[in-house]
Amino acid sequence: MLKPRSLRGLILLLVAVPTTLVLVAGSLYDYLAAQRPATEAYDQALFSATLVLSQHMEPADGGARLRLPPAVEAALRTDRVDRVFLGVYTLDGRFVGGDPGLPLSPLSPLSPLSPPAPAPLDAGEPRRAFDAQLGGEPVRVAQARLPSQAGEHLFVVVETLGKRSGMARQLVANALVSNVATIAVITLTVLLAAAVGLRPLVRLREQLMARSYRDLRPLEVSDAPTELAPIVHEINSLLQRLDEATGTQNRFIANAAHQLRTPLAGLKTQIELAREQALPPEASRLLGQAHGATERLARLISQLLALARTEAGPSGDELQPVDLAAVLGAGVQEWVPSALALDVDLGFELAPAVVRGDPILLRELAANLIDNAIRYAGPGSHVTVRSRQSGGMPRLEVEDNGPGIPEAERPHVMERFYRVPGSSASGSGLGLAIVGEIAALHQARVELRDAHAGRGLRVLVTFPASGTGSSSPA
Ligand SMILES: Nc1ncnc2c1ncn2[C@@H]1O[C@H](COP(=O)(O)OP(=O)(O)O)[C@@H](O)[C@H]1O
Ligand SMILES: [Mg+2]
Repeated sequence: MLKPRSLRGLILLLVAVPTTLVLVAGSLYDYLAAQRPATEAYDQALFSATLVLSQHMEPADGGARLRLPPAVEAALRTDRVDRVFLGVYTLDGRFVGGDPGLPLSPLSPLSPLSPPAPAPLDAGEPRRAFDAQLGGEPVRVAQARLPSQAGEHLFVVVETLGKRSGMARQLVANALVSNVATIAVITLTVLLAAAVGLRPLVRLREQLMARSYRDLRPLEVSDAPTELAPIVHEINSLLQRLDEATGTQNRFIANAAHQLRTPLAGLKTQIELAREQALPPEASRLLGQAHGATERLARLISQLLALARTEAGPSGDELQPVDLAAVLGAGVQEWVPSALALDVDLGFELAPAVVRGDPILLRELAANLIDNAIRYAGPGSHVTVRSRQSGGMPRLEVEDNGPGIPEAERPHVMERFYRVPGSSASGSGLGLAIVGEIAALHQARVELRDAHAGRGLRVLVTFPASGTGSSSPA
């Protein structure tokens, strides 16, 4: 079974092959059909010549002879292409005048050696034309039985086939040219039609390609042609099911995280209360560890919540103009105390940088980067948080002078639950994954670079130019 890889190829095949066959058959028919009238026209000219011959017969002693004036003979014999032979014979085939040895019947051409043929034409058939051979060359023969001053004779005019085969060649060439042109036009038309017809498919592909994996809105159906509409509908219903499934999953994570929070908060309070009691040192140490564990757990839960919120986050349409400087400024009160607690010098350099975004998610992004910088750079370090326009693009930057992340680890740290082996501070490995998710939602690019000072990490989050940002020197 035919299994074409290209629709265009299939259509072309289905159209071009039958068309070519029809055209070839048609031109063969045309050629054959045109031959008949053309042959008859040429034959008619030869018959006219026999008539001229008959007018130049005169009686001679005991018979007849042909007396052709040189001008008439020249006129009869002269042809641009072919050689012409003229002869007069008796009705039973004996030579009288002109050229001897002309073919008198189609089947057995007379040669000078063969005996005279029987009367080639009977009384019922005054004239005929046929193909024959003369001296090994194919010729056309016209014979007519005509009365003359010297009685009834057989007048024969023979012509070589130059004109006729020339005409045949011309017919074939004409048919070929017009057929090749027709096939070319049909092929081009089919290709054009296929290109135009397949355009909706290309548009559909472009629509799908331009999508982010979060964008599960239905595809545009209105301009899809009838044949494509069911496919678009199916894709849309798949997208809808996917959207519902994702929503359910995110709600589950959010709910679970939320449900875990309350008992955890209770547990933490109880541990804190218990630590206030006078306890043996060993019990006090264990309670301290339990307290640290509840804190890590609370953090993990809040990060899971953040991730679920990001996944359920706004689609491109719901983003609004947000100034990164304002987002960062609003978080200062929250972040500075935790920096102080770890003896980290946390500084802010905030210039206006407006992005299209979600302020809550952007704050979550900054919080994760700042938290990492403070905890991994550690006591005595410097952390600088910046917002600015860089090359027309809004950018958020968090730089520290801590240990940094080795080049080889950088591709991995953005993955969920990945932590650089041997990382000292406690953590879940979710922070940078959340940063990546939120950045993707804003079509922003995250880069991990060396700090300016050479030691430490500099994280750049570059947003697409929003067109509403006021620019300041980069
Ligand atoms: N500012 C930083 N300096 C050094 N290492 C860092 C920094 N930020 C992140 N890392 C490394 O990247 C890993 C992943 O970070 P993250 O996704 O926030 O997870 P977590 O902080 O919970 O370990 C961390 O374990 C740490 O090793
Ligand atoms: Mg972290």
